[in-house]
Amino acid sequence: MTNLARLVRDIAAEMAGLADRGEVATYIPPLAAVDPRHFGLCVVTVEGAIHLAGDALEPFSIQSISKVFALTQALGKVGEALWSRVGREPSGSAFNSIVQLEREQGIPRNPFINAGALVVADVNLAGHEPRMAIGDLLRFIRYLAEDDGIAIDEMVARAEQATGFRNIALANYMKSFGNIEHAPERTLGVYFHQCAIAMNCRQLAMAGRFLMHGGLHSPGGARVVPARRARRINALMLTCGHYDASGDFAFRVGLPGKSGVGGGILAIAPGKASIAVWSPGLNANGNSQLGTLALERLADATGWSVFGVG
Ligand code: DON
Repeated sequence: MTNLARLVRDIAAEMAGLADRGEVATYIPPLAAVDPRHFGLCVVTVEGAIHLAGDALEPFSIQSISKVFALTQALGKVGEALWSRVGREPSGSAFNSIVQLEREQGIPRNPFINAGALVVADVNLAGHEPRMAIGDLLRFIRYLAEDDGIAIDEMVARAEQATGFRNIALANYMKSFGNIEHAPERTLGVYFHQCAIAMNCRQLAMAGRFLMHGGLHSPGGARVVPARRARRINALMLTCGHYDASGDFAFRVGLPGKSGVGGGILAIAPGKASIAVWSPGLNANGNSQLGTLALERLADATGWSVFGVG
């Protein structure tokens, strides 16, 4: 057993013994029904080794982690023009906040808060029916993960729709500023379905590889995005991937990461590893409590950090 394999196993064992696991998200009924005792971890290294622990093969709702793949898709469609419709600054606000939008004329702070992700969904919808736009995203994720088993959980998608009053408000509000091109319900349909994609830790870590490999699908594989774009997506994950807790995540873990209210986190150690962790209980900022702790342990033990070595 390698040191890394042992470390992954030991972290999962430590997490299994912890009682304080945070609270599962309750505002979407199928998320409220998930057992908080789950914990899964997958580390895919630059050499291609795959280390799994705990419930790493159990699917969960990726929720806002989908925003990373949707952003990559939108940049592929419109390139730099995206930045005239969405900013690149941390918001310092909750993921579903509406307050900045009025002051900033309907231009969301970044593509990872909900308002920004709705603009990204609107870009991905251009020239398509909603079903095609979401199909494209799903195919892209399956290609990245090399796994055709990845699918949308329709029950979660329906629940998003039924409870998504804030998102509906955000889309309509941005429409009033001219920053949503389609009928808001069509853009929302794309967004709700992307949040409802179900993946396990292995699939998610595999799908994140292009961000550790400088934009290549896998070592020596096809180019997914230019190296500069991969670096920039990582920069956005680091500065905006955990909403108003992005600073704390950078401080504790030191890696680009994107969380979702399903309790998943995708973290990238550029040139070293793509990591997915899942534990459904959330901390006060809506990020996975044990997922963050597990990543902190992993980063401490390996020295993986974008801020220094050793
Ligand atoms: O927009 C929502 O309410 C959710 N379906 C997705 C939010 C999410 O995962 C935010 N993240 N931490």
